[in-house]
Amino acid sequence: MKEHKKKLKLKVSAISEGTVIDHIPSESLFDVISILELDKTRNMITFGANLDSGKLTNKAIIKVSNQFFENDDINRIALIAPHAKLNIIRDYEVVEKKVVEVPDRVIGIVKCFNPKCITNSEPITTSFSVISKQPITLKCKYCEKITHEKQMVIR
Ligand code: CTP
Ligand code: ZN
Repeated sequence: MKEHKKKLKLKVSAISEGTVIDHIPSESLFDVISILELDKTRNMITFGANLDSGKLTNKAIIKVSNQFFENDDINRIALIAPHAKLNIIRDYEVVEKKVVEVPDRVIGIVKCFNPKCITNSEPITTSFSVISKQPITLKCKYCEKITHEKQMVIR
C-alpha cells in the first residue's frame, strides 16, 4: 500500500475488538447511527465523515468497540447504505467481512409516501413488504400504497 493511502486509513484509529462499518455514504451517517441505536450504546464509538474513498467520493466510517450485530439488525441499514461493508475485528485483526442485504420486510425507518396513510397521522410504526430490492419498492401494510426508492424519506 502507498504511504499516503496508509495515512488516510489511519484518520480514524484502529480498534482492538468490535465492528467497523465502512463505505457508508456521508449523508447517511447519522441515520445509520440512529437505526443501529448507536446513540444509546455505552460502547466506545468513533466515526469519520467526508473521507476519501475510491468508490464513494464521500464516505463515512463508524467503529464500535466491543459490539457485534445480528444480521437482521445490520440489514436494516441496507436501505440507506447499500454498499456498506462490515468488518468484524478481534484482537486488532479483521476476522470476517459482511455485506448488507435488503431485507424482505422493513419495519420503521421509512415513512409511507401516502400522505393519507394512518402511519402519517397516528404514532404507528410503519411496516412494508419489499416488492423489489433493485430499485427498492416498498408496499405499506396499512394502506397498501407503494413507496418507491426515489420517494423514500427516513423517519
Ligand atoms: N480496521 C480497524 N481496526 C482494526 C483493523 C481494521 O479499524 N484493528 C478498519 C480499517 O481501518 C478499515 C476496515 O477496518 O477501514 C477494514 O480493514 P481492512 O480489511 O484491513 O481494509 P481494506 O482491505 O481496505 O478493506 P476493504 O477494501 O474491504 O474496505
Ligand atoms: Zn401507508
